[in-house]
Amino acid sequence: MAFPAGFQWGATTSAYQVEGGWDADGKGPSVWDTFTHQGGERVFKNQTGDVACGSYTLWEEDLKCIKQLGLTHYRFSLSWSRLLPDGTTGFINQKGIDYYNKIIDNLLTNGVTPIVTLYHFDLPQALEDRGGWLSEAIIEVFDKYAQFCFSTFGDRVKQWITINEPNVAALLSYDIGLFPPGVPLRGTGGYQAARNLIKAHARAWHSYDSLFRKEQKGMVSLALFAAWVEPADPNSASDREAAKRAMAFELDIFAKPIFVDGDYPEVVKSQVASMSKKQGYPSSRLPEFTEEEKRMIKGTADFFAVQYYSTRLVKHRENDKGELGLTQDVEIEINKDPSWISLDWVCVVPWGIRKLLNYIKDTYNNPVIYITENGFPQVDPASLDDTQRWEYFRQTFQELFKAIQLDKVNLKGYYVWSLLDNFEWNQGYSMRFGLFHVDFENPARPRVPYTSAKEYAKLIRNNGLEG
Ligand code: NOJ
Repeated sequence: MAFPAGFQWGATTSAYQVEGGWDADGKGPSVWDTFTHQGGERVFKNQTGDVACGSYTLWEEDLKCIKQLGLTHYRFSLSWSRLLPDGTTGFINQKGIDYYNKIIDNLLTNGVTPIVTLYHFDLPQALEDRGGWLSEAIIEVFDKYAQFCFSTFGDRVKQWITINEPNVAALLSYDIGLFPPGVPLRGTGGYQAARNLIKAHARAWHSYDSLFRKEQKGMVSLALFAAWVEPADPNSASDREAAKRAMAFELDIFAKPIFVDGDYPEVVKSQVASMSKKQGYPSSRLPEFTEEEKRMIKGTADFFAVQYYSTRLVKHRENDKGELGLTQDVEIEINKDPSWISLDWVCVVPWGIRKLLNYIKDTYNNPVIYITENGFPQVDPASLDDTQRWEYFRQTFQELFKAIQLDKVNLKGYYVWSLLDNFEWNQGYSMRFGLFHVDFENPARPRVPYTSAKEYAKLIRNNGLEG
């Protein structure tokens, strides 16, 4: 089962989840520093990323893992507030630049291509204090940060992700409040943030396009989270409609403006408008784009990056109680199929990834796709033998193979989440996605391969599954 030549075999991490060194060498605080330091049991056992995997000082250990796997590509994120402590280019932290130069240069020397995320949930606190993603002002600030990164690292980095999972960030940070700043603004905050995230991404893409592309010849996109959904009852028209709405509100709300026409899906616009009306709002809670904004947003991605973890069953559910929130507007009930294996919030459904890829192919005109994250948590963290987990990966690779060979999906790369066990946001260190086990009790943070790491290395060597 050989994959196409040049297929990118990668693994992903993000700055806050692995680096530690939260205030080292001039780094400014990010919202996750503030949030975790406030305590309040919003994170498992009030754990923090203060030290995490210690990658800020133990980067060479990560490189050993990367080489052991034989990754062709490694995706990591830049800590915005390590580079620009208050989020603006008013003060640039040279030590931050040095750190990322070291990573990029060492990867390249070892034949590993870096793919770099500019922003992975860890907004500089100074910017949150000025309204964060709720404020339009962030668009310009993000664009400046992006330009700074392109000009500092873009001679060597050719594949950029501007924003990681803006759909998750908008929902969890500003609608539900599970992520910092932790203030739920149900029904309005998520849409307001989404709008600014989309515009910030688009602005950064234009900056790359007009100022850097010619010389640097790279590609820029954003990484969108998407679960696949199935109608709970495939014979029910209302469940089938509910499934379509679920995809529209989760994925298309970001993907359609950027990949198609600068505008939200019709079903999202009409649904939020009618819900808002029922709730007595003078106008829709979803702020629409102007024609000029639509022109600016349309076509601002050079590839499609998607992150898949789960498949869900959805049912139509009327919101007759007038509950507010982005998720309520969808009017769905989300269920797990009892026969599917659940690992915390992850539902192990390898065939869902093939369906999702086909959905993207059909909806977005057969784009080049990268799966920039996919993975499964290890159930028994004490055991390095995760044969069962590898079985889920193996089935996933079979599905990807079919998607490429049979469905002609233009899939060019796959990245495991994650290289290392790390700080899994609200779940702290209790949910372990790593190919390498990390002992968080040990100050040396030793990295030890799970069985899956050895299997993944074999797969990469063979450019696919054997047999
Ligand atoms: C998506 C996020 O990008 C990453 O930060 C997170 O740890 C994984 N999913 C697993 O939840």
